[in-house]
Amino acid sequence: MSLTQPSTGAAEPFGGSLLPGFHRLSLGARRAWLERAFDISASEVALLEDPVPLRPEVADRMIENVIGVHGLPLGLAVNFLINGRERVIPMVVEEPSVVAAACHAARLGRAGGGFVADADPALMIGQIQLVGVRDVDGAIARLQARSTELVATARALTPSLCVRGNGPRALEVRRLCDPEARDMLVVHVLVDTGDAMGANVVNTLVEELAPHVEQVAGGRACLRILSNLADHRLARAEVRVAIAELATSSMPGTVVAERIVAASRLAALDPYRAATHNKGIMNGIDAVAIATGNDWRAIEAGAHAYASRDGRYRGLSEWRTVEAQLRGNIELPLAASTVGVLTRVHPSVRLALRVIGATDARDLAAVMAAVGLASNLAALVALVTDGIQKGHMALHARAAAAALEASK
Ligand code: MEV
Repeated sequence: MSLTQPSTGAAEPFGGSLLPGFHRLSLGARRAWLERAFDISASEVALLEDPVPLRPEVADRMIENVIGVHGLPLGLAVNFLINGRERVIPMVVEEPSVVAAACHAARLGRAGGGFVADADPALMIGQIQLVGVRDVDGAIARLQARSTELVATARALTPSLCVRGNGPRALEVRRLCDPEARDMLVVHVLVDTGDAMGANVVNTLVEELAPHVEQVAGGRACLRILSNLADHRLARAEVRVAIAELATSSMPGTVVAERIVAASRLAALDPYRAATHNKGIMNGIDAVAIATGNDWRAIEAGAHAYASRDGRYRGLSEWRTVEAQLRGNIELPLAASTVGVLTRVHPSVRLALRVIGATDARDLAAVMAAVGLASNLAALVALVTDGIQKGHMALHARAAAAALEASK
């Protein structure tokens, strides 16, 4: 599609996301395209002109001791084909080259059919820690025997979730051996939170359910809080890149692919590299999380805990070659929401959600996984060829010059 192509009115709102040259347009021309492509009113787009799109009076009620509103760049990553659907990805990030890198990798993935991604139902874990349980074996047996009844109590405590077909699903009992004290019990309540991230609903539930659990198990409830290791709520993405597409002027595609596989193995074996590998993945995921009003700290915490689930911290993605393709895949917990507070009060979050076109929280999580994998691919391509600094520093120099100009 060309940048001037009018909306087709077909299944996609704008006929495609492959937009070569989008980065060369002026800010005004990009906004004009946004207006046309997504049928967004001029007044809504004009909100982006406002250096403080979130009104300070609203901000003042969101957190404490407010003195202002903090702004960050909002960009669009183009070229993404995810599950056969064209997607334009809003990203909020301060680091130069993150958006460009995502666009580049999205383009690399298109010839192989784009990204394939999915996400599990939104099953969150609420934890109830029990301390001072005298008969741990007996408590486990009683909790297991009465788990159906406890789940029914949990459902009765969450009517507004259950009425939407979500709500508590199951109860799990975990025994934790503590070398310094008596074994501890932790009860997990698994709750389908639908399109919500779920922290509030789960935290309220475990606080209200705890006395019922104490009654069955004995002992006292200590912590009652959601777990950010949302490992029942995983998102996955896969991409296939034709090895020939990876060739640079000085390196054949086969060598680039081999080197990416070697880099992937390093991230699997070495936590020092894995941390940086995963940081590159989170560059993409966090940027989408912030643009869409999601709790990126929760997503970060879940991702890193999942990366060390077998006792050693590893890369969240893997790359391998299969015949003439480089194939990458990623899996991580992604507690994404399409209905958080910011979706009601923040104009650019609302706009971002419209642009990304998420049908629900699972769809958004799947898209985030694909963007994380794309960010990872772009970083690896740069690292194993020219090195990261060449492209990054050119964009960084541009940002630094702009900052200097603005401070004059
Ligand atoms: C920089 O923000 C991210 C990278 O360090 C990721 C990586 O090394 O894979 C380039």
